[in-house]
Order: sequence, then C-alpha cells, then structure tokens
Amino acid sequence: MKILSLLFTLAFALFANDGAHEFAPSKDCQTCHTQIYDEYYGSMHANSTPDKDAIHKVIWDKHPHNTKLEQYSCGKCHTPAANNLDKMLTKGEKAMPDVNNKTHQEAISCAYCHRIQDIEKHKQSNTNIMSKTMKSYFSSKSSSDISKENLKESSYHKIITTQNEHFKNGNVCIGCHSHNVNQFELNICSTNENEVMNYANCVSCHMPKVKGSASTVNDTKTHSFHGFAGAHFNHEMLEKHIVISIQKNSDDFNIFVDNQTSHALLMHPLRLAVLKISVVRANKTIELEKEVFVRVIGKDGKPAMPWVANEVIKDTMLKANEKRTINRAFRIESDDRVDVVLGYFLVNPVALDSLGLKENKAATEFHLLKKESFKF
Ligand code: HEC
Ligand code: HEC
Ligand code: HEC
Ligand code: HEC
Ligand code: HEC
Repeated sequence: MKILSLLFTLAFALFANDGAHEFAPSKDCQTCHTQIYDEYYGSMHANSTPDKDAIHKVIWDKHPHNTKLEQYSCGKCHTPAANNLDKMLTKGEKAMPDVNNKTHQEAISCAYCHRIQDIEKHKQSNTNIMSKTMKSYFSSKSSSDISKENLKESSYHKIITTQNEHFKNGNVCIGCHSHNVNQFELNICSTNENEVMNYANCVSCHMPKVKGSASTVNDTKTHSFHGFAGAHFNHEMLEKHIVISIQKNSDDFNIFVDNQTSHALLMHPLRLAVLKISVVRANKTIELEKEVFVRVIGKDGKPAMPWVANEVIKDTMLKANEKRTINRAFRIESDDRVDVVLGYFLVNPVALDSLGLKENKAATEFHLLKKESFKF
C-alpha cells in the first residue's frame, strides 16, 4: 500500500511538474504569523542563497557546476522554492541563481517547508516529496486538534489532517540535512550518524517552544521557534545540550565535554571548534594548550574542496552523543579557578585567505557556545 501510494505520488510529480512547483510567498504569512515571520527572517533558512550568504557564495563561485555547467544544483536544498528548480537539477540545462527572480529569493520558504509531505531516501542525498496543493499546510497538528483547542481556523489556508507525523518526529528536516554524498562516495556533511534520536529530535532542539502567539488570530501563548537555532544564529538556545565538567587529580586534571546531541557537534567541513582552557591563580591567568575539534576532508592527504575530496584526512570532531575526556598535565592548587570556553569558527581560519573571506565577520568571528568556571 505504501509503495503504491509512493508510485502515485511519483507519477503526479512527473505529470504535474511546472505548475505544481509554485509556493505562496512567505510575505503572505506575515499579517497572521507575525512573530514566526520575524524569527524566520533572522534565520539561515531565509538567507541560504548565494547573494545573502557570503560563505555559500565563495564555495559556489569555485564549484564546477558554476564554472563549467552553469547549473545551480545547490538549489535542491538552498533555493528549493525556485520556479525553475527542475532545470537546476536536470543535466544539460543551464539554470543559475538569479537575484531578480523572486522565487529564488524565497530561499527555504514557509510554504515550501510546510508542504513537505514525505521524504524519499537516496544514496547521494534525500529528496522531499512535495504536496501539489497550494495553501494547504502540514504541521504536527490536524484541523481536529485545532477545533478541540477552540482555535479559529485560518481564512487563508487549510491545515492538512493526515501524514503530518514528520513534523513531530523531526523527519521533515532530513530531506535536506540527512547526508550529502559526493561522486567519490564521501559523505560531505551529515546528521545521520546516529539515527536514533533518543530524548529529543531536530524540531524539539532547534525549534523549541518559546513565548508569543503562533498567530494574531488566536492567542496561543507559545509557538515553535522559527529562528532555527544553529551555528550562525541563536546558538545560545542550544548550549544546554553540551555539558562540561571537570575532575581534579593529584598531578593533572580532566575536562569532560559531553555532546548530548544526536549529531556531531558541528557538521559542515568548513567548521572548526576550539576548547580554550586557562587557570586563574592569584590574579594571574595561565593559558593551557587548546583542544581543537575539526573534520578535514581531502585528497592525497591534503585538504581539498568537497567535490574533489575522496577521504577524511583528520577527524577530531566530537561525535554524536560522545563524552570526550581532555587531559592536561597541570597540577591544580586550592584557590585556583579553571576557565573553560567552547566556541567555534564557521570557517576554519587556515582556509580564510584562499577563500577570500578574511574581511567577512561571520566567517572570522569566534562564536562562543559555552563557558564554565570551576573553583577549587
Ligand atoms: C488570515 C490569517 C493567516 C494567514 C495569512 C496565514 N495563516 Fe497560517 N494559520 C492561521 C490560523 C488562524 C491558524 C490556526 C492556528 C493558530 O492560530 O495557530 C494557522 C495555522 C497554521 C499552521 C498550523 C498551525 C498549527 O497550530 O499546527 C501552519 C503550518 C500555517 N498556519 C502556515 C502558514 C503559512 C506557511 C502561511 C503563509 C503562506 C500562513 N500560514 C498564512 C492564520 C493565517
Ligand atoms: C542535499 C542538500 C544540499 C545540497 C544539494 C547542497 N547543500 Fe549546502 N548545505 C546544506 C545544509 C543542510 C547546510 C547546513 C549545514 C550545516 O550548517 O551543518 C548547507 C550549508 C552549506 C555551506 C555552509 C554555509 C555557511 O554559511 O556556513 C556551504 C558553503 C554550502 N552549503 C555550499 C553548497 C554548494 C556550493 C552547493 C552546490 C554545489 C550545496 N551547498 C548544495 C544542504 C545542501
Ligand atoms: C525548515 C522548515 C520550516 C520553515 C522554513 C517554516 N516552518 Fe513553520 N514549522 C516547522 C516545523 C517543523 C514546525 C513545528 C511542528 C508543528 O508544530 O507543526 C512548524 C510550526 C509552525 C506553526 C505552528 C505553530 C507553532 O509554532 O507551533 C506555524 C503557524 C508555522 N510553522 C508557520 C510558519 C511560517 C509562517 C513560516 C515562515 C515565516 C514557517 N512556518 C517556516 C517547519 C518550518
Ligand atoms: C529544503 C531543504 C531544507 C530543509 C527541509 C531544512 N533545512 Fe535546515 N538548512 C538548509 C540549508 C541549505 C541550510 C544552510 C543555509 C546556509 O548556511 O546558507 C540550513 C541550515 C540549517 C541550520 C543552521 C542554522 C545556522 O544558524 O547556522 C539549522 C539549525 C537547520 N537548518 C535546522 C533545520 C531543521 C530543524 C529543519 C527541520 C524543521 C530543517 N533545517 C529543514 C536546508 C534545509
Ligand atoms: C539534543 C539536541 C539536538 C538535536 C536532537 C539535534 N541538534 Fe542540531 N545542533 C545541536 C547543537 C547543540 C548544535 C551545535 C551548536 C550550534 O552549532 O548551534 C547543533 C548544530 C546543528 C547545525 C549546525 C552545524 C554546523 O556545522 O553548522 C545544524 C545544521 C543542525 N544542528 C541540524 C540538526 C538536524 C537537521 C537535526 C535532526 C536530524 C538535529 N540538528 C538534531 C543540538 C541538536
């Protein structure tokens, strides 16, 4: 039955191609979902295009799909609401990102995400199966839930009553985030290292419930945060999932960094995380050796671009649910204070120059994720 319905969906996808790949602009949602709209516009989902994300642009500028094929294949995940997405994904067709095309500027839009009906698993990267109906949106609630809660329904759109479990269990995210495997079968970036999402999932961690109404029509007290807490923005909302503790021994000490997340601490291969450790003794600060967490991909033992890389040449990144022990051969005395700072760079500082990102604030800034002080 499931296979049959999937076949139908696929057949529809083929027949109903162009017309159906049309989404209401996010601006339409603003009057009624004001707070959600404001949060969303400050998130990477609204800013995932080459002209809004300088880091994405520098990599795209060097990519052979740009320099040779003139085909923005990145659009599958970075501008999925584009009206010419099919061309972006068809070999031989030329389709570049266009600042003047409004559907490109919609990036990962409200209506796009809320029309994800199912996720089809593939080896290279998954594919979102989209509902063909305009202005009918999935969520974890159904219209009957909404009437039970005595909420007024929208005069603008319908809420779909079935097949919405993906919005609750986090699978709605894995069409784009699960994995991205290149032609050498190297997984560039993935969240699927640990498929078992134990006490939380993508949605509950990255879209926690926050104060404020989901719409101006009803007063719902809380809504799911649409600023998508992540490496660029709002990471302070995620720090609780990383727990840092310390153990003093007679001649040395251990720091434990417990990544309680279902994926590696950072996933994109451009990233570099650092744990800074210092001891404050009688108003003097003694800096100890830093610990670096990084996953470098490359070829012939040297770092290389994602479309060239065929191996992982170094991987010290904190894995999913890993508790790492970091030892320092330093004797802690009474009245010492140990300061530990965990943070990261969006772009590994050694790559800034060759990527032309030395002047870019987001790329060069040290983003502080977590800070702890331990007194003895
Ligand atoms: C005329 C006002 C109005 C407009 C415009 C509007 N909505 Fe809604 N929407 C509502 C109301 C009312 C609800 C019912 C529940 C509530 O108040 O949260 C709702 C609920 C939803 C839900 C499900 C909520 C739940 O409680 O699970 C989604 C998803 C949604 N809207 C998406 C959108 C998107 C996407 C747009 C823009 C393309 C949009 N809406 C535009 C009024 C509106
Ligand atoms: C299968 C979906 C998918 C495709 C296809 C894809 N990306 Fe991405 N990309 C993502 C996701 C998801 C992220 C966020 C990863 C993270 O933050 O860990 C991302 C992030 C990035 C980043 C980091 C941006 C930043 O601001 O730090 C760069 C650079 C990037 N992608 C380049 C590209 C380029 C260039 C292409 C096309 C040649 C491409 N991507 C195709 C899903 C995709
Ligand atoms: C990347 C995917 C994604 C995008 C983009 C997105 N949403 Fe959501 N939205 C979700 C998920 C997941 C939920 C939480 C599950 C649920 O309650 O349905 C949600 C919940 C909602 C709800 C239900 C109320 C709540 O907050 O619990 C409304 C209304 C809504 N979204 C409207 C919007 C609007 C309007 C936009 C654009 C301004 C938008 N969404 C953009 C994925 C997305
Ligand atoms: C249509 C594809 C797509 C879907 C669906 C999607 N994402 Fe993303 N997401 C992306 C891309 C592409 C980026 C990177 C944008 C960039 O950096 O330019 C991204 C970035 C992010 C980031 C990093 C934000 C930051 O500040 O660095 C987080 C967190 C995230 N997504 C969470 C989610 C969650 C949670 C869901 C499911 C509710 C989801 N995404 C669904 C494509 C998608
Ligand atoms: C237990 C909470 C938790 C769960 C579950 C979780 N994340 Fe995260 N996520 C985090 C934390 C903590 C970080 C690291 C801090 C940061 O980058 O903001 C992070 C970072 C990210 C980033 C940015 C990484 C980078 O390299 O730029 C993306 C994208 C992301 N998560 C997507 C997802 C998706 C998609 C899922 C579901 C498959 C998911 N997360 C599940 C807590 C969680």
